[in-house]
Order: sequence, then structure tokens, then C-alpha cells
Amino acid sequence: MKIAPSVLAGDLANLTEMLQDIEANGCDLVHFDVMDGHFVPNLTFGPPLIKAARRHTKLPFDVHLMVTNPADYLESLADLGLKNLSFHIEVTNSAPRMINRIRELGMRPSIALNPQTGLTAIEQVLPLIDNVMIMGVDPGFAGQQFISPVFNKVESLVEYREENELVFTIEVDGGVNENNLSELGAIGVDIVVAGKAYFSAPDRKAFVQAVQATLGG
Ligand code: DX5
Ligand code: ZN
Repeated sequence: MKIAPSVLAGDLANLTEMLQDIEANGCDLVHFDVMDGHFVPNLTFGPPLIKAARRHTKLPFDVHLMVTNPADYLESLADLGLKNLSFHIEVTNSAPRMINRIRELGMRPSIALNPQTGLTAIEQVLPLIDNVMIMGVDPGFAGQQFISPVFNKVESLVEYREENELVFTIEVDGGVNENNLSELGAIGVDIVVAGKAYFSAPDRKAFVQAVQATLGG
């Protein structure tokens, strides 16, 4: 599997060092959690910080919009070397329009689902999108515990992808740690976000290698 450390769980006041550490340890992507204090009960940062970060690493960015108006952020995130741009299905009733706009702006459209949101909410847009982000925790904070019924949802999504010959990647965000990695890989997850598990690992490089050696996809 690929690994995207979440900068929210690191020392945000030392972002440059953090990015160098993430790159030096061989990570695949850098995960940025944009929170607006409305969709989730926490407020983090927005496009200006992501733009500033762009100058300090070559790694692709994985941006996760936890905001009530994701459409307002698309233009300011274009041209920043983003790979996936995730918005939540819970805040939009015009997902196809969002997906098209993200693609037009040169990014990979990704849909995020809260733990309590079922797959039926995204079924119609699955052929249109490049990545699905399944939340393992209620969004808002790093360091929370993985909600175990989410395993079944990921499994169903992998089966649906196979049955329908679709090609989107599957990413799991929130509560990923050394205890659930192998199960996520075995199910068929392609990318994991790791906040606390990455920054608290006694040997980060070894942790990254363990994730990358875990079969997925
Ligand atoms: C939760 C965020 C996650 C979080 C991951 O709202 O979207 O990306 O930072 O952190 P851990 O891995 O510690 O749960
Ligand atoms: Zn996230």
C-alpha cells in the first residue's frame, strides 16, 4: 500500500522539517486536512499553507477538504502538485459537477465518506471518480480510534469495484495503525493515511516500509 502521513498529527509549527522528514522516510504522498470549523468541530488551515508547503517538497499532495463549501476551494488548489483532492459526499448534491471541475483543473477527483455514510450515497458517481476515501473515524481530529464496522464497508467497496470493473483507488483515512494495517491491505486498500501512527512510530522509515510492503489494491 501507499502511505500518506497527515501533517495535522505532526508539529505544524515546523512544517518544513516535517515535510523533509516525510520525504526522507520514503513516503508516497503528504496528506493535508483542511477543516473549516463548520463541517467538523475543528479549524486547521487552507490553501495558503498548502501553497507554502509546495516549495519544500517534491512529493505529491493528498488534500482532504472537510468543509461545507468545497467548491469554493478548487481554483486555489489547482497547480499545486495535488494528486488526490477529496471532498465529502455529505456536503454536496452536485458531485458530478465537482468531479468534472476538479478534473478540468488537473487534479484527481476523490470522494470522502464519513463512517456512518453508506456506499449507496456514492454508487452513482463511482464510474466518474479516481479515488474513494473511506473515513475510519469521525472527521475532525487526528489520533482517534478506528471504527471497526468500517472494515465491512471497505470490503464491500472492493467487491463492487471488481464486479463492475471500475478502476478507482481506495484510500482509508483515520485510525490506521500497525494493528489494522495488514487487514486493510488484505482487503485491498491502495492508500492509507497515517497521522499518529506515523509520527509516534519509534522508527518512521521502518513503519513506512512496513506499510509499503503490505499488499493492497
Ligand atoms: C481526521 C483526518 C485524518 C487524521 C488522521 O479528521 O481527516 O486525516 O489527520 O490522523 P490519524 O491517523 O492519527 O487518525
Ligand atoms: Zn484526512
